[in-house]
Amino acid sequence: MRLLVLSRNPTLYSTSRLVLAARARGHDVAVADPLDFRIVISRGRPSIYLRDHPAPAADLVLPRIGASITNYGLAVVRQFDLMGMPVLNTAVAIARSRDKLRAMQLLTKKNIDVPVTVCARTPGSIEHALSLVGGAPCIVKLQQGAQGIGTMIAETPQAVTSLLETLWAMGQDIILQQYIAEAKGRDLRAIVVGGRVVAAMRRQARAGEFRSNLHRGGLGVRATLEDRYRRAAVSAARVMGLEVAGVDMLETREGPKILEINSSPGLEGIERASGIDVATAIVMHAERCLIRPSRRERNTALDDERRLSRIRAGAHGARRRTAG
Ligand SMILES: Nc1ncnc2c1ncn2[C@@H]1O[C@H](COP(=O)(O)OP(=O)(O)O)[C@@H](O)[C@H]1O
Ligand SMILES: [Mg+2]
Repeated sequence: MRLLVLSRNPTLYSTSRLVLAARARGHDVAVADPLDFRIVISRGRPSIYLRDHPAPAADLVLPRIGASITNYGLAVVRQFDLMGMPVLNTAVAIARSRDKLRAMQLLTKKNIDVPVTVCARTPGSIEHALSLVGGAPCIVKLQQGAQGIGTMIAETPQAVTSLLETLWAMGQDIILQQYIAEAKGRDLRAIVVGGRVVAAMRRQARAGEFRSNLHRGGLGVRATLEDRYRRAAVSAARVMGLEVAGVDMLETREGPKILEINSSPGLEGIERASGIDVATAIVMHAERCLIRPSRRERNTALDDERRLSRIRAGAHGARRRTAG
């Protein structure tokens, strides 16, 4: 298989692990920076260039799109998608999961539990919004935050008001969320690949910090998930439409509460903590995707058939009309 990994930097741990894992299984791998692509929009003939040359031929594209290049990165992934190249993950799935509000809306639509979350846009609504999430302290999040940056805790109603007013004035989209104190700075990160949890870790925030992200100094240790946590992680990834996902969950008396779903989960922390070769699991799933046509491809084939039969029916109708 010819694999194209989209990543800003081939020396990053996750990128180099994917490259090594794919080469070890006999595949050809190229890494390209999403920002180096040129997208050509032309009716019926979408194409894409890597700098001045047509993009290298590939059987499958594996995007690793960081938060800082979301828009352009998604446009590149979408272009490969439009050109009929299988991508793990698709642009629409990445976009869904990257917007925390959109992700929460979709999860609860499928009856998956999340911390109570409120989105408001006017200062007049803050008091009511705060009462809905159980009062202070509460969590304030940028809708597009990542790696712990953009997730804040507000200890008092005054802090909530000033934070929201400041962020709104800066044009930021934010959500207010119930603070789950019983999690005590811990959460679970499950890696879901092809509808299966392949690895999991429990992360503990460092002293004095509520965010357990490893980028914020959290510590990850191997975890075995209870069934309900495993099921929640798999369902969350499925709702987003992600083939590869890192699902963050809080442990509560009521069971799992999903915080977010990451479409380009970092591999370093999880491989170290779990001792599992996640990169190889991803590559093996890519192999399976190429053997077995995706639901989308099956649907496209079905759509083609329907279109054909409509055309045939139309032609008959036209003949009948002409004859009449
Ligand atoms: N509602 C919450 N209650 C308690 N802790 C939370 C809550 N939301 C987030 N956290 C903590 O903050 C971390 C970062 O939040 P998350 O929503 O995953 O955003 P990010 O994209 O920055 O990782 C989580 O891993 C968790 O430890
Ligand atoms: Mg997170």
